[in-house]
Amino acid sequence: MSIAEKFVAMEYGPAPEDPKEALIWLDHHSRRFGHFIAGTWQQPAEGAYFETTDPSSGAKLADVSRGSATDIDSAVCAAHAAWPKWQALTSHARARYLYALARTIQKHSRRLAVLETMDNGKPIRESRDIDIPLVIRHFYHHAGWAQLLEQEFPGYIACGVVGQIIPWNFPLLMLAWKIAPALATGNTVVLKPAEFTPLTALAFAEICQEIALPPGVVNIVTGDGFTGEALVKHADVAKIAFTGSTEVGRAIRSATAASHKRISLELGGKSPFIIFEDADLDSAVEGLVDGIWFNQGQVCCAGSRLLMQESIAEPLILKIRDRMSTLRAGAPLDKSIDIGAIVDRVQLDRIKRLVDQGVAEGATCWQPQIELPSRGLYYPPTLLSNVHPTSVVAQQEIFGPVLATMTFRTPSEAVELANNTVYGLAACVWSESLNVALHVASQLKAGVVWVNCANLFDASCGFGGYRESGYGREGGREGMLEYLEPVWFKNAPALPAAKPSAIQKLDQTSTDDSGPATPAIDRTVKLYIGGKQARPDSGYSMEVRAANGRILGEAPLGNRKDIRNAVEASHKATAWAKSTAHTRAQVLYYVAENLSQRSDEITRGLAAVVGQTQAAAEVSIGIERIFSYAAWADKFDGAVHNPPFRNVALAMNEPLGTIGIVCPNETPLLGFLSLVMPALATGNTVVAVPSETYPLIASDLYQAFDTSDLPGGSINIVTGYTAQLLKVLAEHDDVDAIWCFADEATAAAAKTYSVGNLKQVFANDGRFIDWFDVKQGEGRWFLQHATQVKNIWVPYGE
Ligand code: NAI
Repeated sequence: MSIAEKFVAMEYGPAPEDPKEALIWLDHHSRRFGHFIAGTWQQPAEGAYFETTDPSSGAKLADVSRGSATDIDSAVCAAHAAWPKWQALTSHARARYLYALARTIQKHSRRLAVLETMDNGKPIRESRDIDIPLVIRHFYHHAGWAQLLEQEFPGYIACGVVGQIIPWNFPLLMLAWKIAPALATGNTVVLKPAEFTPLTALAFAEICQEIALPPGVVNIVTGDGFTGEALVKHADVAKIAFTGSTEVGRAIRSATAASHKRISLELGGKSPFIIFEDADLDSAVEGLVDGIWFNQGQVCCAGSRLLMQESIAEPLILKIRDRMSTLRAGAPLDKSIDIGAIVDRVQLDRIKRLVDQGVAEGATCWQPQIELPSRGLYYPPTLLSNVHPTSVVAQQEIFGPVLATMTFRTPSEAVELANNTVYGLAACVWSESLNVALHVASQLKAGVVWVNCANLFDASCGFGGYRESGYGREGGREGMLEYLEPVWFKNAPALPAAKPSAIQKLDQTSTDDSGPATPAIDRTVKLYIGGKQARPDSGYSMEVRAANGRILGEAPLGNRKDIRNAVEASHKATAWAKSTAHTRAQVLYYVAENLSQRSDEITRGLAAVVGQTQAAAEVSIGIERIFSYAAWADKFDGAVHNPPFRNVALAMNEPLGTIGIVCPNETPLLGFLSLVMPALATGNTVVAVPSETYPLIASDLYQAFDTSDLPGGSINIVTGYTAQLLKVLAEHDDVDAIWCFADEATAAAAKTYSVGNLKQVFANDGRFIDWFDVKQGEGRWFLQHATQVKNIWVPYGE
């Protein structure tokens, strides 16, 4: 073909990237890798290896060790031994190591990109231009956080040894998202790469050696799910950070329930890609290419559900088909390839099975007539139309290049369809009307919303999900907090043996701590549901006794039905989340005012159980605490990030939804207020279970709430036996989070019961919190747990 003919045809010629450097590196290691433990390569204790292959050809790349529990133990021991010294380094010294990592990765970027493409099958264009640059950016950004750690996070300390488990879709990028913040905050790490894609993690291990990172600070143990499980279960691991399937996320939640391990989970998604009729359709189609065909759709935040406004559905589908027909599938090392290989046969079979199921359920399948390589694991870009919102292809993560389309008529219908999954990772909204786009963005249940753009990531912007897409964020300030704990909390002593319940106290001889000799009050209180006093479904009540055993009154014995009613009422109280922060502040001030007017009476009642001195302190500090959260309500706001694109990312602190709160026993009033107020101040609705010791506090509180303009249902109080009520609350699918401040066993139960819809659990794990101390009992730590950050990306410029 002459140059003139080529100019007319404009066909792509082959443009292969040279794999030589990567192959030399593999050969240098004799294509056989041990684990990277304590700064050296160690052969697997059980001598077991597995192959890692190139999915585009099936060729074996190397043998990699299969980690056993013994290997994990060696790695955790190494990380444990390294922690005190790493932790004792200055922030600046840690910053230098992170900076050196960034620089050295940059130096090896070409080899790493090629290795990533060979091991994973993704186009070199993506690994070279997206994955590796983002990895480098992540280490640079976190070198900065390391430098500023003490100034920006005073009073916080690293968790300790962190176990990190990553998937195969962005192997080195996920490693960076995990390791950079962990090291910047002074943790040491044991990381397990995915079994399909271990090579770049091993290359990273060598980079750790190259920069002379102290031995044991980073340990890499390769292996499969069993290796991951051993890491999760290891007693000396303080935190698990996981990215992968929702199913394994659940297994990790269950396995860690009885421990103090913190967990962060970045799980699957079924993200909506919403296009309004006024959108720039050509740009939207390009966005869609990034949204669903990037990395063969093997992306947790892939825009796998296309929601089109009905009026433009037909022309849009034609445009999409045209564009799909120009996508080029082929050898991933070819620089002009759009669609590479699927990571493994298992994943390819899964994609085929789900598409077949979707078609059997009525979807129409369209695939462009593009050429696929004859060998290797490929799947063509696929468009499914006529998809019913309940179909498996509209609900389940396919993790392949498959787009399911649906239509909507109005913005509210778009929001309803978009939120109609169990997930909540990401979303795209395309509209030339910024008002419409931001209005819709604010209503989407998603941790990231891209307005008129798609799949943008940056180390300065938190990434993570709502609902069953997991919890915790990676990147930004909130990502740093995932690896830090308040120093006082880390060192908090265990609770004194749980304060005996009022009934147990009957058997004790009382001293004079039961307060002044007040006459018996003998009150009978009710539940408080939907802004009204309610009789318990059971018709039973529990006796409430003073410290000296005297009967003080009766509290209703709430049951499953009462909790359900309370959750329903809290869901209906949408006005509270929608109210302005100023309004919420005003209402909370009013609650404080009304409680203050009743302070003598409240103190008298409480004194009979906790003694006069504590009662008076609980009331006065309690009122102060409400003031604090009224003050915080319009000040705990978000941020505007400045990523290195022509974009702003608006980081909004949004409420979690409905929080079930189990209040501490030892401080019936102050504990209640210290937990319920931050939840309310940030716009959540609450179902609270007051302390079993003195549930009569409920009646004092709801009288104050009733007279304070708090909308009915925003706070509900169900008294009864904590263990029973907690189970119902934690298992309820319409409860979004559980706060459990009780003994260790109750916290473990809360975590176990919450597995169903993966609610986040905030618990003291049986540690003692001094609620009277403002440094422990109030502030940002509680507000952070009451909110989740949504990052809304908005481009600017022409
Ligand atoms: P997976 O969740 O099984 O694997 C992710 C990581 O967890 C791997 O390193 C694996 O070895 C490890 N692992 C597996 N079982 C474990 C256990 N019991 N305890 C601790 N670690 C364990 O994901 P898989 O099987 O590779 O992919 C299955 C589906 O998961 C995909 O089709 C996709 O839908 C979803 N997925 C989602 C990802 C995301 O980024 N959200 C990433 C990878 C997969």
